[in-house]
Amino acid sequence: MKNRFNRLSSKEWLPFQKSWFRYVSDDKLISENVLFFTKAEESHEKIFYYGNDYSSVASICCDNSLNLVSAKDYQSEPLQFALVDMRFDISKMTGVEDYLIVREKIMDISQRIFENLQHKRFLCVMIPNKQINENYFPFSWDIAYQLSTVFSLKDEKIACMSSDSPHVNQPYFAPDLETFYCLYFRKDENSKGKYIPVESGLFSNNQQKKGLVSFSKSLPYWFILKPSPRKKNEILHPAKYPEELVSMFLNVFTRNGDNVLDPMSGTGSTQIAALKSGCNAYGTELSEFFMEIANERCQNLVNPQQKELFLKESISGDFKILNKDARLISKDDFPPVDYVITSPPYWDMLNMKGAENQAKRIEKGLLTSYSELEEDLGNLVNYDDFIDELVQIYFNIIDLMESGSYLTIIVKNIKKKGKNYPFAWDLSARLMERVVLLPEVFWCQDDINLAPYGYGNTFVSNTFHQYCLNFMKP
Ligand SMILES: C[S@@+](CC[C@H](N)C(=O)[O-])C[C@H]1O[C@@H](n2cnc3c(N)ncnc32)[C@H](O)[C@@H]1O
Repeated sequence: MKNRFNRLSSKEWLPFQKSWFRYVSDDKLISENVLFFTKAEESHEKIFYYGNDYSSVASICCDNSLNLVSAKDYQSEPLQFALVDMRFDISKMTGVEDYLIVREKIMDISQRIFENLQHKRFLCVMIPNKQINENYFPFSWDIAYQLSTVFSLKDEKIACMSSDSPHVNQPYFAPDLETFYCLYFRKDENSKGKYIPVESGLFSNNQQKKGLVSFSKSLPYWFILKPSPRKKNEILHPAKYPEELVSMFLNVFTRNGDNVLDPMSGTGSTQIAALKSGCNAYGTELSEFFMEIANERCQNLVNPQQKELFLKESISGDFKILNKDARLISKDDFPPVDYVITSPPYWDMLNMKGAENQAKRIEKGLLTSYSELEEDLGNLVNYDDFIDELVQIYFNIIDLMESGSYLTIIVKNIKKKGKNYPFAWDLSARLMERVVLLPEVFWCQDDINLAPYGYGNTFVSNTFHQYCLNFMKP
């Protein structure tokens, strides 16, 4: 039985819902999008296309009985889907000035698309972020902000390039090819329909002084991890990240003997990885329960009770994890900080008990939130308050960092009750008042089952990618 939204069976629908994918070819990418967002084969739906490869898109449409119209020839017929491919424009850019000219053109086109797109239909924009000389420009995030004044921002998928297929059995797969974004917007009852330029703050303070080129060469663009299984006390925490992830960034951003800080330590993953890589490990954690687990894990690493079982080289770094609200960290708490890696609560997502992972934890009698404490950022209900408080914490920490040192923050864009909150971009835009943005690295998760959200009605991806945001203190 065919569904109402497109003509795909549930088996064909599901793979498209993965929020990152291995990019194979433009033809595959475009035909998957066209077939997902239209009722191909029987209704002669009309597709708008802006981009550099009209003939390939035309042949895909022709094969599926869809009508294609290019930006150049477009007058004002009703549209069922629009595809705006900005990759070629971006590839030619030499700075923000070029981008702003193209942005104006795209916004003009988008306004016309909006006027003619059928209700509840989608616009897909393909666009990369770009490093130009020593500067990194998040063009995709900016265009998403601008387009959100016209359409409703619904979702994103990350196209991950690689000359190899991921090796599922290896603990770590990090290809050396780039990524780009497929951004999804919908015309619906929440769309404002009128372009109002947004001052996104994403280009304000990105005049890089040093270091970007060398570091960005050593960072992967995206990676898949197969972390070692979590031990009993680590499972108690609802959102722990793997030590292997921290080690990857420590290898790039630290040297032996550096002081590493995580203001929201959880079970101490940062500190364990830091100690193992020859650094000193510091942190705070609001929950006394998790702080104790974190300290105990570090203690066992530095001074193992059953020494004979630990034949590996001994760990000599210093560690200290305080049971403290990260808002109150002061320069007297720790020595000067060389590198910060951390992951905050993802707003109040853990309080959304319906989430699949939450249901499983409830079943097993495990904690589903960090704490009931008022100071816990995961208990803030208002998104803007949450961002404000988090930014204040990071500003305070940035003051403690040495000039020329780095900060990595693991976050996710958030979907809540049908609305998209681009947490990773919002946080970056605010932090760029004080630190320089470096290329983001995607942590792509490949070990979770896809759920058929929205099947037959609309597109809702399964978010299986996290942002590793990187910054440098100038
Ligand atoms: C995403 S978890 C970090 C997990 C950690 N990276 C790990 O691997 O175990 C966020 C942590 O922030 C803590 N937290 C929330 N609000 C805090 C605050 N105001 N000060 C310090 N820690 C806070 C929570 O208790 C939680 O453990």
